[in-house]
Amino acid sequence: MNPYTFAELIAPAIHQMNAYHVPPAQNMIKLDAMENPYLLPEVVAHALQSQLNNINIARYPAADAAVLVEKISRVFNVSESSRVILGNGSDEIIQMLMLLLNKAVDGGGVLAVEPSFVMYRLLSMMVGVPYHGVSLNADFSLNVADVLQKMAETRPQLVFLAVPNNPTGNVFSQQDVLHIIEAAPGLVVVDEAYSAFTESNYLPLLPRYPNLLVMRTLSKIGLAGLRLGWLAGADAIVHELHKVRLPYNINAYTQTAVSIALDHFDAFITQTQQICASRKALFDELSTFSQLKVYESEANFLLVKVKELPASVIFQLLKDCGILVKCLHLVHPLLENTLRITVGTPKENNALLAALQNIFTLREKA
Ligand SMILES: Cc1ncc(COP(=O)(O)O)c(C=O)c1O
Repeated sequence: MNPYTFAELIAPAIHQMNAYHVPPAQNMIKLDAMENPYLLPEVVAHALQSQLNNINIARYPAADAAVLVEKISRVFNVSESSRVILGNGSDEIIQMLMLLLNKAVDGGGVLAVEPSFVMYRLLSMMVGVPYHGVSLNADFSLNVADVLQKMAETRPQLVFLAVPNNPTGNVFSQQDVLHIIEAAPGLVVVDEAYSAFTESNYLPLLPRYPNLLVMRTLSKIGLAGLRLGWLAGADAIVHELHKVRLPYNINAYTQTAVSIALDHFDAFITQTQQICASRKALFDELSTFSQLKVYESEANFLLVKVKELPASVIFQLLKDCGILVKCLHLVHPLLENTLRITVGTPKENNALLAALQNIFTLREKA
């Protein structure tokens, strides 16, 4: 039999993509991935130590993780009329949502605002559904007129709005978001990955909007290594999502460890409150640099525009000092010359500030 050529074998959209790149970060101060910089609360660490040994890993985990679903619904006050489904990180839930879409309709596909979380576009490409991006306004607010126009042109089946938005950190006006939910011809996912750092909360609105889905993750509060995301929404949609969910997608360790963590959720709230306080302090300190413009954020990171030097130079100089941030230059025109800095511990933030001070002082002298 004639073998396929590589081009025949691999979907062109996949062949043209780059794999998601995660830079090496060993021994670095890691301020690039919106993780919680603190150690696991001691009470959780102790409980984990005593209970993880009891897990029987010779057996598959609970297939639908029903006990954990019930606990999540309770801890996060999900209304009884909504149903919750879990994913191996919220990335997996985004993928599951895209797998649901009927590709036989004219147009359709996914609409997201830009700049926003890159996986909305990447996963659309991987799954093979049309993707439509609509630029935010220059102040990172929603351009509702443009979104409505694009929705009328393309009739997206799925709209993603991250609130707070990554990488801009702002919370979109609720009036604008509701306008989009009301006008959308299909589902609207409000992605609340950063809900721990803001008052904004769309969960109570679920009963009012049958096309609204609210997605969260435990990655940003201190459990990124466990990979657990969840989505709440109408029973009819969650019912379909279970059909595209891979069997046993939440492993046994994650089910147990998250359950233990949620028993001590207060300890995580204490940490996220510390992060919010540090965010304010870091915002104030960074704002004193005349070379930087810092944007207000309701997430656990700050977007910073570098005024004179290229952001890529600052990124590299920080890296040379052992500090890893995210350079977003070239990602989107609105992100020209920007860096995204995750809020670290006060010690890490001070190291960042000292490094920036050095970099700018040396540049001025040069
Ligand atoms: C807006 C947003 N949604 C979802 C995710 C994915 O989170 P995870 O897959 O870790 O649950 C991220 C991660 O950075 C994000 O910024």
